[in-house]
Amino acid sequence: MAGITPDVTIVEVGPRDGLQNEKRIVPTEEKLALISLLCAANLPRLEITAFVSPKWVPQMADHEAILRETPPADGLIRSVLVPNERGALSALAIGVEELAVFTSASETFAHKNINCTITESIERFTPVAALARRCGVRLRGYVSCAVECPYEGPVAPRAVADVAGALAELGCIEISLADTIGRATPAGVDAMLSSVNGRLPPGRLACHFHDTFGHALDNVDVALGYGIRVFDSAIGGLGGCPYAPGAAGNLSTLPLVMHLESRGFSTGTDIATLQQAEEFAAGLRGKQP
Ligand code: HMG
Ligand code: MG
Repeated sequence: MAGITPDVTIVEVGPRDGLQNEKRIVPTEEKLALISLLCAANLPRLEITAFVSPKWVPQMADHEAILRETPPADGLIRSVLVPNERGALSALAIGVEELAVFTSASETFAHKNINCTITESIERFTPVAALARRCGVRLRGYVSCAVECPYEGPVAPRAVADVAGALAELGCIEISLADTIGRATPAGVDAMLSSVNGRLPPGRLACHFHDTFGHALDNVDVALGYGIRVFDSAIGGLGGCPYAPGAAGNLSTLPLVMHLESRGFSTGTDIATLQQAEEFAAGLRGKQP
């Protein structure tokens, strides 16, 4: 996996953000087969599962098995979503390269998704950050509803900058700004990034677009203009969020890679294997519960 550093880094979130939203609970073996293809496609960063409550997201209940059965590899960062200290402790007991905490720029969405206020979520992440530091693993932070909220509508760019700043102060080395329901237009992304840009350098930021209305690649171009070089995507455009009505699939990995490469940005991925992974992901989606 080691080699020339690509211009743009893809964070593949399909096994987590994609499969958490499938009606059928995808069997562990099928998830592992997908993850294995994604590794073979040379994707350097994989968000493989979520150590969240199985009562809240039963699709991720096999998180321990997924992490245990995804072996570490040179140049591969295995990331898992954690909502609290308990999730972090369970993941660290197995071994992982990155913990990802997640909050929101919208209070209503924070309540629906993690059952607390934004301020409480940051407090809840404090012990997670301490554990990450102590164990020498990376800490990533998500700001959901960075442009639009399914419950509150448009979100103030200033609110996004505030939450991103709080996550950075906590110790997140990278903040992923998420258009959770894919409603963001390039103008909305521009306003949001212009606000966050005043607080954090582009090297600390990633963008996470969903493609509900077909704006995701245009939004990527806006983010590239701000110097952002890390993008989240899901193989086959899998996904959505169980607590975000209207959230269609994530930005699909293969079209993202093709888009970036056509603009002269290398991604270091193996396109033929990515195509196989896309077909495999489409098969997972097509199966009945
Ligand atoms: P709660 O009900 O407020 O808190 O949930 P709780 O402490 O009472 O926990 C409820 C139950 O879960 C308890 O079990 C806990 O033990 C257990 P019981 O005692 O009733 O048997 N529990 C756990 N189990 C396993 N692992 C854990 C854990 N913690 C508690 N870590 C909580 C609060 C945060 C736990 C819950 O709201 C939760 O898990 N939420 C996760 C929701 C989620 O995963 N949403 C989707 C991901 S976010 C997303 O998709 C957005 C993103 O992609 C970016 C974007 O696009 O916007 C990141
Ligand atoms: Mg998402």
